[in-house]
Amino acid sequence: MTKAILICHRGLSRQAPENTLAALEAALAAGADVIEFDIRTSRDGILYVIHDETVDRTTDGRGRVADMTSAELDGLDAGSWFGAAFAGERIPRLSVFLDACKGRIGTYAEIKAADPARVRDMLAARGMLDRAWSFSFDEGIRAQMRARVPDLRRMVLFQHTGSVERAVAAGAHILEFNETNVTPERVAQAHAAGLVTQLFYAGAEEAVFERALSCGVQQMNIDEPDVLRAVEARLMLPVS
Ligand code: G3P
Ligand code: CA
Repeated sequence: MTKAILICHRGLSRQAPENTLAALEAALAAGADVIEFDIRTSRDGILYVIHDETVDRTTDGRGRVADMTSAELDGLDAGSWFGAAFAGERIPRLSVFLDACKGRIGTYAEIKAADPARVRDMLAARGMLDRAWSFSFDEGIRAQMRARVPDLRRMVLFQHTGSVERAVAAGAHILEFNETNVTPERVAQAHAAGLVTQLFYAGAEEAVFERALSCGVQQMNIDEPDVLRAVEARLMLPVS
């Protein structure tokens, strides 16, 4: 069994404030192959790396990202909520975040609210398309991705497609399962169809990691890399 591709969900968000340069550095230190992050657009059209629709949970500010200017967003503290050691951490502009990722880690850019063509162009301008892919929970953005930026690889969720066939028909490159819908049969079917398989799991139950790895899932979009590596080590031990 080969080691799974490690994707740190919002960066290493258990050890550093999510979706920040600190979470990126922590993910790199943990040996992540890819970083998952979220993209939204400010009122004056600047792309930022932030998950929630508002800045309330992850900064010292209040309000919707879409209603705030880049000057307002740039001035917020996106680290103190997580810990005093991260005071002064900023909401990264996507341009700054991608510059920090370039040549160091793959990127899974989840588009919450942004023009996918702009995301694709920023990745392409940095020579990063070959190690990037994107997804959006917004059906309209997914349609735009497929129609306007076909060279940005696309991921779909099994919980949306309901079958491997429909994932293939959607023109996906990557099919992401969760801990309730991953099965050996579906993973094998996805591989036979040429899809890369992935699990999204934000928990720490070893049994979930073991089941996904035993199914042959290739990429793990997770919050607990230490648990993944411990389970892999146990599964790779020769049977004594
Ligand atoms: O691949 C799914 C993952 O990106 C979900 O992320 O934004 O719900 O934490 P989120
Ligand atoms: Ca996300």
